[in-house]
This record gives sequence, C-alpha cells and structure tokens, in this order.
Amino acid sequence: MLFHISSKYFQISLWPRKSAYVFMLIAFILSGCAAQFVEYDFVIVGGGAAGSLLASRLSEVSEWSVLLIEAGGEENVLQDIPLFAAFSQLTSINWGYETEPSSTACLGLVGGQCKWPRGKVLGGSSVLNYMVSTRGNRKDYDGWEEEGCEGWGYDDVLPYFLRFEGMLIPRLAEDTVYHNASGQLAITYPPYRTEAARSFTEAAKELGFNKTDYNAGNQIGYSFHQCTMKDGLRFSGNRAFLKFARTRPNLHVLKKSLVTKILIDSNSRTASGVQYKLFNGLTLKAFARKEVILSAGAINSPQLLMLSGIGPREELQSLGINVLQDAKVGFNLQDHISFGTLYFTVNSSIGIRFDNVLENLFNAAEYLLSRTGPFAVAGGTEALVFQELNTSSSNSTDGVPDIEILFASSTLPSLKPVWDAWGGNSDIYAAYEPLAHKDSFMIFPMIMHPRSRGRVALRSADPTDKPLLYHNYLTDPYDADIIISGIHSSLQLVNTSAFQKYAAELYPVPLPPCEEYEFASDKYWNCSIRYTTFTFYHQCGTCKMGNDSDQDAVVDTHLKVRGINNLRVVDASIIPLIPSGHLTTPVYMIAEKAADLIKNRWSSSDKV
Ligand SMILES: Cc1cc2nc3c(=O)[nH]c(=O)nc-3n(C[C@H](O)[C@H](O)[C@H](O)COP(=O)(O)OP(=O)(O)OC[C@H]3O[C@@H](n4cnc5c(N)ncnc54)[C@H](O)[C@@H]3O)c2cc1C
Ligand SMILES: *[C@@H]1O[C@H](CO)[C@@H](O)[C@H](O)[C@H]1NC(C)=O
Ligand SMILES: *[C@@H]1O[C@H](CO)[C@@H](O)[C@H](O)[C@H]1NC(C)=O
Ligand SMILES: *[C@@H]1O[C@H](CO)[C@@H](O)[C@H](O)[C@H]1NC(C)=O
Ligand SMILES: *[C@@H]1O[C@H](CO)[C@@H](O)[C@H](O)[C@H]1NC(C)=O
Ligand SMILES: *[C@@H]1O[C@H](CO)[C@@H](O)[C@H](O)[C@H]1NC(C)=O
Ligand SMILES: *[C@@H]1O[C@H](CO)[C@@H](O)[C@H](O)[C@H]1NC(C)=O
Ligand SMILES: *[C@@H]1O[C@H](CO)[C@@H](O)[C@H](O)[C@H]1NC(C)=O
Ligand SMILES: *[C@@H]1O[C@H](CO)[C@@H](O)[C@H](O)[C@H]1NC(C)=O
Repeated sequence: MLFHISSKYFQISLWPRKSAYVFMLIAFILSGCAAQFVEYDFVIVGGGAAGSLLASRLSEVSEWSVLLIEAGGEENVLQDIPLFAAFSQLTSINWGYETEPSSTACLGLVGGQCKWPRGKVLGGSSVLNYMVSTRGNRKDYDGWEEEGCEGWGYDDVLPYFLRFEGMLIPRLAEDTVYHNASGQLAITYPPYRTEAARSFTEAAKELGFNKTDYNAGNQIGYSFHQCTMKDGLRFSGNRAFLKFARTRPNLHVLKKSLVTKILIDSNSRTASGVQYKLFNGLTLKAFARKEVILSAGAINSPQLLMLSGIGPREELQSLGINVLQDAKVGFNLQDHISFGTLYFTVNSSIGIRFDNVLENLFNAAEYLLSRTGPFAVAGGTEALVFQELNTSSSNSTDGVPDIEILFASSTLPSLKPVWDAWGGNSDIYAAYEPLAHKDSFMIFPMIMHPRSRGRVALRSADPTDKPLLYHNYLTDPYDADIIISGIHSSLQLVNTSAFQKYAAELYPVPLPPCEEYEFASDKYWNCSIRYTTFTFYHQCGTCKMGNDSDQDAVVDTHLKVRGINNLRVVDASIIPLIPSGHLTTPVYMIAEKAADLIKNRWSSSDKV
C-alpha cells in the first residue's frame, strides 16, 4: 500500500506530545504534501544530478513508492541562460561553501579561501554548472576496475552512458557505438560560436592536434564543447529526468527540506529512514521500507554519514557523536584545478565583451527572439583540447590526457559578478581591471589526474553548520608541475598564426604577489597558480567505492555503505579516482548504473 498511514510515524521532536496532532496538521498544510505521514519504499536524499536521475528511474517501477527530499526549491528560467551560468553562484541556490585557508593554494582569493559553490535547488549543481559534457577516458574506468571496483570497467559503464544520452549533434549521433540520439539528456553544440573560439580550434590544428569527439573512441585532440543544452537553454538533471517523472503518483518530491540525520537501528545496523527539517523549522521523519539513498553530493553526503555515526571514530567521538561504523568518510577528496589569471589581449572584437551596452542590447534581443548569439555561450567557455604531455613528470602515451586546456572567449575581470563568484581579492582585481575594457580572452589549463587529496570533516555535530573543507591543492609537486606544463601548452596555442593574426599576446601585467619572479618564468607561474587557483568544481571521492580488501572504501561496488544495511550513496562521492573530464555526465552514469543495481536487488521478490 502506497499511502500507508500509521500513528507510529507521527513524530515531531520540537513539540510536546499533546500538541503534536495540531502541529502535524499545520505542518501538513504548510508543506502541501503528506510526506511526513507515510512510509516509502525508497527515500532519496538530494535532488541533484544523481538524485534527479535516480528518482526518475526508481519511480518507473509503479509498485514502488519513492520520496525525494531536496534542500532547495524549483529552478527558474534565468538560471537557464547559458552565458550567465556564474551568476547563480551569487544567489541563494548556492550552498556557498568555502575552504579553510591554507598555505598552498587560493592565496589570492578573499580570506585565502577557495569558494566551492554547490547547487541547492532541484537539479543540484547541474543548475550551476557550465554545461560541458564529458565522459572521461576509457582507461579511467578500467582503472577503477583494476583497483577492485568490479563491474565499473569502461565496457561495463558504456551502456549506462548511452542509456540517458539524447545526442542532438547529427554527425556524432551516427556513431551508435558511442552515442544515443533518443535518451532524455539533450547534448548539443551551442548554437553560437565566437571568432575567438574558432581561432582556438584552428590554433590547435596548427599545432598538430586532431579534431575529435572526446566522448567516443579517442579523447585526445580538440573540440568545441558538447553541452547539456537545448534550444539555447540549459538542460539540467531536473529538466532531463525529474520534470517528467514528477507526474507519477508514486514519486513525491519534498522541497526546502534539509535532511539532518539518517535513522539507523544500532542493533540491526539497518537504515530505516531519515530525519529532516522543514523550511518552517519543524523536524520530521520519513521512513524507508527498502533503502535510504544518499545523493546529497560530495560535500553533504559524507557530512550526513558522519552526523549519523559513520566516519572516523575518534573525530566523531570527540564531537559527541555515537559511532556506528568506523570508516574513512570524507577522505580521498579530489578536484580539478586550474589557473584563473592566464589572460591574453587581441586587437579586434573576436570574443565576448560585456562593456558595450548597445551591442549587448542587440545580443539580448537576438537571444530572446532566436535563442542564439553570445547569450547562448556556456558561461563564456567554448572549446577545449585534451592533451597528453611529454615531460619528465608525465611522458606515457596511453591516450589518457594529463591536461584539459579550456578556452573562454572573455576574461574574469571583464564581468565583476563573475570575478566575485570566483573570489579574487581586490589587490589582484586592481591589477587586471583594465582588461574589462579591452578585447581579451582566457585559457584554463586544468590538471586531469591530481595527486593531492583533500578532505571533508565535521565542524560540529550541528547539521546546519557547514563542514570543514580542506582542499590541500598543490601539496603534491606533480600537480604544480602539470599545470605549469599546461600553461606552456596554452602559450603555444596562442603563438600560432590563428591567434597572431589578431596580435594575441599575454597580458603583461604581473600578478602583484609574484612580482619578485621573472615575469612568465616557471618560478613566476609556480607562484601565480598558488595565488589565483581556480577550481572547476569537480569535488568528488569523499565516500570512496572499493572492494572488501580496500580499507579506505566507504561503499562497496554496489554503492552500499559498508557495515550498514539498506543504505547506499549514489553521487560524485563514490568516485574512487577522478575521471579525465568534467563530472556531471559521469555522475549521471553512476546514478543510471545504481538504478540497475537497486532494481536487480529488489525486483523479483521483496527479498532482503
Ligand atoms: C559552478 C559549477 C560549474 C560546474 N561546471 C561543470 C561543467 O561544465 N560540466 C560538468 O560536467 N560538471 C560541472 N560541474 C560539476 C557538476 O555539476 C557536479 O559534479 C555534479 O552536479 C555532482 O552531482 P551530485 O549529484 O553528486 O551532486 P549535486 O548535483 O550537487 O546534488 C546534490 C543535491 O543534494 C541536495 N542536498 C545536499 N544536502 C542535502 C540535505 N542535507 N538535505 C536535502 N538535500 C540535500 C543539494 O541541494 C543538491 O540538490 C560544475 C559544478 C559547479 C558548482
Ligand atoms: C580487491 O581488488 C584488488 C585489486 O584488484 C584485488 O587484489 C583484491 O583481491 C580484491 N579483493 C577482493 C576481496 O575481491
Ligand atoms: C537510448 O535511449 C532510449 C530512450 O531513453 C533508450 O530506450 C535506449 O535504451 C537507449 N539506447 C541505448 C543503447 O542505451
Ligand atoms: C592525429 O591522428 C593521426 C591519425 O590517426 C595520428 O597518427 C596522430 O598521432 C594524431 N595526432 C595527435 C597529436 O594526436
Ligand atoms: C617525448 O620527448 C622525448 C624527448 O624529451 C622524445 O625523445 C620522445 O620521442 C617524445 N615522445 C613522444 C611520444 O613524442
Ligand atoms: C618519463 O617519465 C618517467 C616517470 O615519470 C621519468 O622517470 C623519466 O625521466 C621520463 N623520461 C623523460 C625522457 O623525460
Ligand atoms: C613562437 O613561435 C615561434 C615560431 O613560430 C618561435 O620562434 C617563438 O620562440 C615562439 N614564441 C614563444 C613565446 O613561444
Ligand atoms: C591586428 O594585428 C595583426 C597582426 O599584427 C594585423 O595584421 C592586423 O591588421 C591588426 N588588426 C587590427 C584591426 O588592428
Ligand atoms: C613552487 O612553490 C612551492 C611553494 O612556494 C615551493 O615549495 C616549490 O619548491 C616551488 N617549486 C619550484 C619548482 O619552484
């Protein structure tokens, strides 16, 4: 029975028992949903990239009831305009995380803290992201399998990448080994390209790179971005998967509700539901007959596990948390970082300028009428090169990129809100502010396989306290070395006739804290990347997947939390080793495969 109502589930911890029924009624009216009264088969925590897809797949089974609990609310249409991707970071749909200050990176950002935006909205970070769709490399997933993640090799996961893809680029869709034209997630080239981005791809060609479909057999080479976009608008996980599923009677979506704890019976070590806080402050419970699934993302999923007694024993004990399972929760944090101030000037308007009001009015009108023009460019980023380096730190030729060189047809200082979303401090802004009135572009050399590992830890036992975030960026010298090599590759790309016909040159003003080093020397770059570090927001790995001999693994290869029954993690947290590319599409794959694992466990009969 779907709407199984029992007084056993009437629980309001804020109020004395007598008045419980009165407040239950109020809560019912305020929340507009009966969720807090009933038991479901599955409770999914977090309606982000993974949670949207998973809720959709599980609710395909009409006998199952699914509750999705999301801390944020609905997406809005302004968030769908690709060029303004960064603006959402300045609004309440961003959790607004910041890392602890360190001595190794983000030194030139306000407070010495890197900002780690995360989406707090249906669709999660897929509503904030820059829409670049990449799967990573075949060898990334084969590597997961070699490390003990059986069933996660490339040949195993390719069918899951295909299942949700709605490839709208006809030439790519023809390749049915790697693409599917009829899945739900629209992927296309943005309808508009700047001259600057065309120059970038010509430059790559000049240097001998091949044009490639980086989501097919060969990842190395250059390409315009394949974007999760349709008709010039963002295509979030919410839009692709959840919107349609929400008409199903067996799926309930509870918004603006913060899950504060997973309910786990300490004797049977079985998860039975979650405790959550409604937007009006009431604390309620929801119960799961079959499973509780955490899809709260790489920061919040480990936080919730720790709050619920699963994590590093001594640390949890010191916060007064009763430990159910000692586990390496929050460790193994990986991210893709780059360098935020590699700026170039040109002598013609080949990129995107924000200071020309008349032109922008024209562009806005063009976008409103035909959904094209610069407003359809994904956050100003347009094209990339996946490159294998040949340096002393990395000289293998296995087809796996060491670096992604990402091209943006504008610069960060040319739009103050974008600069502020990143967080560069005022001294550094002063050095680059003149670029706001010049034709300019930027290049981000992004390390693909960093060796530094960060960490998420609890600040306190209060679920509304933000966790402690330690990035540990650039603590391994390999990471700096690769990014500096990527800077050299970027300079080479600009030193081609494709860019020299616009007199492209490196902006010659040195970064103030690094003035002591010879401008553009390796020592100068080594200093600069530590000041203007730029994350690509790919935090992952904090609830690592692994097999039974992997002491660092938090979840097994079925994504079940080790030592606890009926509890899974399905999101970017489970990634054991970060793939060579942006993360949303790999996260959808993870959720798609998880949906199959869950269906296989419960489908035939209700076995335990
Ligand atoms: C600014 C930015 C740009 C990016 N650009 C790209 C890009 O161009 N390409 C790309 O592939 N990737 C990009 N990414 C990364 C990508 O968006 C994420 O890796 C991906 O969305 C992670 O999916 P997830 O399901 O693990 O987490 P999320 O999508 O973050 O979803 C987690 C969800 O859980 C909810 N939640 C968390 N805690 C709770 C709680 N306690 N109770 C209830 N709900 C909760 C959150 O509100 C959120 O909706 C970008 C990310 C950001 C922030
Ligand atoms: C786990 O994986 C490793 C690496 O592949 C392997 O050596 C080990 O035997 C595996 N352990 C189990 C229990 O399967
Ligand atoms: C392509 O997408 C459709 C629609 O979602 C799906 O039914 C089909 O199985 C997918 N194809 C592959 C090869 O996964
Ligand atoms: C480009 O493709 C050709 C033919 O496949 C190959 O031989 C060459 O190595 C590729 N070049 C690069 C830089 O990847
Ligand atoms: C890498 O560089 C070395 C010289 O440093 C050269 O001998 C070698 O051929 C290069 N390898 C490739 C694949 O280009
Ligand atoms: C190739 O890489 C290995 C390991 O990173 C290194 O020891 C070796 O010196 C490199 N070779 C060259 C020619 O740079
Ligand atoms: C630019 O390329 C030319 C050859 O085309 C070369 O002589 C010059 O040294 C290069 N400059 C830089 C800064 O790499
Ligand atoms: C830009 O610079 C190039 C190379 O120096 C030159 O040929 C071209 O005429 C310049 N264009 C403008 C508009 O100044
Ligand atoms: C780079 O900078 C770090 C931190 O200042 C320093 O420890 C390291 O030795 C430098 N590396 C090089 C190659 O200059």
